[in-house]
Amino acid sequence: MAVRIGFAGTGGIAGAHLINLVRIPEAEVVALYDVDRVRCALATRRINGQQDQAARPGGQEPRKLQAKIYTDYHAMLDEAGLHALYICVPPFAHGELERAAIDAGVALFVEKPVALTMDLARQVAEAIQRKGLVSASGYQTRYSEAADKARELLANRTIGMALGFYLGGMPGTPWWRVQAQSGGQLVEQATHTVDLMRWLLGDVARVYGVGALRVSKEVPNYDIFDVATTILHFTSGAIGNIANTSILGSGTATGAPSGVHVMAQDFRLEVWGTTLKVVTAGRTVEQRWNTNTMLAEDQAFVEAVARRDPGRVRSSYPDAARTLAVTLAAEESARTGQPVDVPKV
Ligand SMILES: NC(=O)c1ccc[n+]([C@@H]2O[C@H](COP(=O)([O-])OP(=O)(O)OC[C@H]3O[C@@H](n4cnc5c(N)ncnc54)[C@H](O)[C@@H]3O)[C@@H](O)[C@H]2O)c1
Repeated sequence: MAVRIGFAGTGGIAGAHLINLVRIPEAEVVALYDVDRVRCALATRRINGQQDQAARPGGQEPRKLQAKIYTDYHAMLDEAGLHALYICVPPFAHGELERAAIDAGVALFVEKPVALTMDLARQVAEAIQRKGLVSASGYQTRYSEAADKARELLANRTIGMALGFYLGGMPGTPWWRVQAQSGGQLVEQATHTVDLMRWLLGDVARVYGVGALRVSKEVPNYDIFDVATTILHFTSGAIGNIANTSILGSGTATGAPSGVHVMAQDFRLEVWGTTLKVVTAGRTVEQRWNTNTMLAEDQAFVEAVARRDPGRVRSSYPDAARTLAVTLAAEESARTGQPVDVPKV
């Protein structure tokens, strides 16, 4: 079955999914919607340009993106006969799109972070479950062999502690640096690290965060923490910490620790993206895979929708809401100075 797909939001991350989807034979992207209509036309041109440049196996004509552009998402949901909708809007723009898609009975791929409040995330998660819809979110590291292997190695060990890092520069999108629009770096970006920690160590029960705006005060509209660190108490009893900053532009993050480092008895591993480093009794083994994890994530979602098999998805919306709960609790803790219990979803 061809899976008919629509997009709401056709900016940066939408482009990464669109190029994958035009290359997945079972997927058919038929509709694009964006509050800024021009973005839909630009995305189409960019994808088709990339397809023109791609190698053509057996001299085949590359598949093109020929989706209808909509200026009204209700019209898209009424007319386009969608099986699935990718929601790739900035964090502040979630809510109405999800509700309309759920009413229409459409499967949902919602980019992280799935919301900026737990009220909204809970409402959407419950509605998805009530309707039995397939859902997914954009935590692509779950689809890497490095994470698979790390989970396998940790399965029979007592984990002592884990350290997580997201140390980098400031993305260019103007909404990113505005607390009310992105939720801050931990909620918006370092959420990938928190999600990987949950994938490897299980749920987080309690957090204690601190954050500060130290060096980015002169950047127009910048009101999020530019440095933060959070102590994590996992339900298992393990403890952890995550450090994030956006002040390391101009290549200064090169060589800084990244991803998730896990410690057990005489055992240590580091995993990030498609790389895994394992250290045991004086022996270090580093493995790197070439998997395109976002392609694997899109493929899994398309298959889950086509075969009505949600089990193929590694990060469902309700699970992504649990990662959001950790990051929002850490933000609350950093603002109040008090430890915060992570709410249940
Ligand atoms: N999984 C990942 O690794 C990854 C990477 C980058 C971004 N993201 C996430 O994707 C989301 C979007 O980020 P981006 O970098 O593509 O942002 P972007 O600003 O490049 O694109 C967002 C698009 O959404 C449109 N938009 C805004 N409000 C809308 C609304 N109400 N309805 C429809 N369209 C609307 C904008 O016009 C824009 O075209 C963010 O939540 C971000 O965290 C995920």
